[in-house]
Amino acid sequence: MNHYTIVAMPGDGIGKVVLPESVKVLEKAGLKAEFIHGDIGWDFWCKEGNPLPERTVKLLEKYKLGLFGAITSKPKKEADAELDPQLKGKGYTYFSPIVSMRQMFNLDLCVRPCRSFKGNPLNFVKKNPDGSVFEPEINVVIFRQGTEGSYAGVEWTNPPEKVLDAFKTHPKFKPFSNVKGEDLAISTRIVTRDMTRRVIKEAFEYAKKFGYKSVTVSEKPNVLRETSGMFEEEAKSIAKDYPEIALWSVNIDAIMMWLTKNPEDYGVFVCENLFGDILSDGFAGLVGGLGFACSGNIGKEYAVFEPTHGSAPKYEKLDPPIVNPIAMILSAAMLCDHIGEKAIGDKIRNAIAEVVAEGKVRTYDMMRISGGAKSIQMGASSTFEMIEAILKKI
Ligand code: NAI
Ligand code: MG
Repeated sequence: MNHYTIVAMPGDGIGKVVLPESVKVLEKAGLKAEFIHGDIGWDFWCKEGNPLPERTVKLLEKYKLGLFGAITSKPKKEADAELDPQLKGKGYTYFSPIVSMRQMFNLDLCVRPCRSFKGNPLNFVKKNPDGSVFEPEINVVIFRQGTEGSYAGVEWTNPPEKVLDAFKTHPKFKPFSNVKGEDLAISTRIVTRDMTRRVIKEAFEYAKKFGYKSVTVSEKPNVLRETSGMFEEEAKSIAKDYPEIALWSVNIDAIMMWLTKNPEDYGVFVCENLFGDILSDGFAGLVGGLGFACSGNIGKEYAVFEPTHGSAPKYEKLDPPIVNPIAMILSAAMLCDHIGEKAIGDKIRNAIAEVVAEGKVRTYDMMRISGGAKSIQMGASSTFEMIEAILKKI
């Protein structure tokens, strides 16, 4: 086996809790790797005016592989208020370090598997007409374009004159042309053909490799005729190379309804950045929610793996910690798949599956009780107990 070097970026809040635990799991499962700490997150914004310090960027440039916990971000006014007084007024503006990381390292594929584990009390269930309940198996993987679309970051409140002039050339802008600048906000949705083709192609390749029967494009081409239109057009063209896989096109709003009715019918999805963000949260809710939602940000050269949850600051200081580490660990298992150590990834997923199926160790979210200092007294397992159980199975 190769010896890998992985940049470990815990970030803020519960990121600091779950990331080191996932390292223990990787090591126990047999991954031979060195983990190098990378600073990221709110503290570095406050102290240095940069939530993604240059030294971390350098580490990622060098080692090309990252494991990331979660960060805290706050609205503009709060961000400005918490900046070190010595840095105030010097032109620092807060930006999301994860969105920047995706753009800086061209992590254009955001891959989010949503699979149900048998025995998870949070799994989606259905009712038969006679009232009996059954639990369909959900196995969906969302390919979300990760660098452009609605998150490209090209937006204004009070757009500059030149921008307004350009917009005024579009007949549909007429009703907005007399709105006062500070009362006018514009966010763009930018889609390029190359990046669109790449995410669609990868979605089909994945479907082919792992035997999925369909790829569903979830856009809105009847309204967003240009950007969603390009997605649909390219999907149709690429699908021709994969005659064994069905191409379905289901509008993003419609799919939010269908996923509450027959999520088990779907396989691989592909969509733009914002729609993929929404869709993956929707499906995550059917397979256990944020405690189970993992993801990979994958470019041609670099890759960073992270749970989709945030820093859940209200649980940061609980001792022992109560949050579910499974989302982080599943993300670490995705990292293994990515570097060609799928056997280790499978070993980790199988261990999680066994622990969930046994049902003896469950964090508070899996018990449907509210999180807090009392969760453990109410019978929930701590983060550490969950990790111990998984380590034992490995
Ligand atoms: P969040 O994902 O941090 O937490 C929402 C709720 O989900 C929590 O209160 C908790 O009840 C539950 N939860 C999250 N992770 C869990 C886990 N592993 N186990 C059990 N329960 C879990 O989202 P929220 O509260 O909206 O944001 C908190 C901070 O995180 C904000 O500053 C936000 O900007 C940031 N954020 C960062 C993300 C990232 O780093 N990728 C993603 C989403 C939010
Ligand atoms: Mg999200």
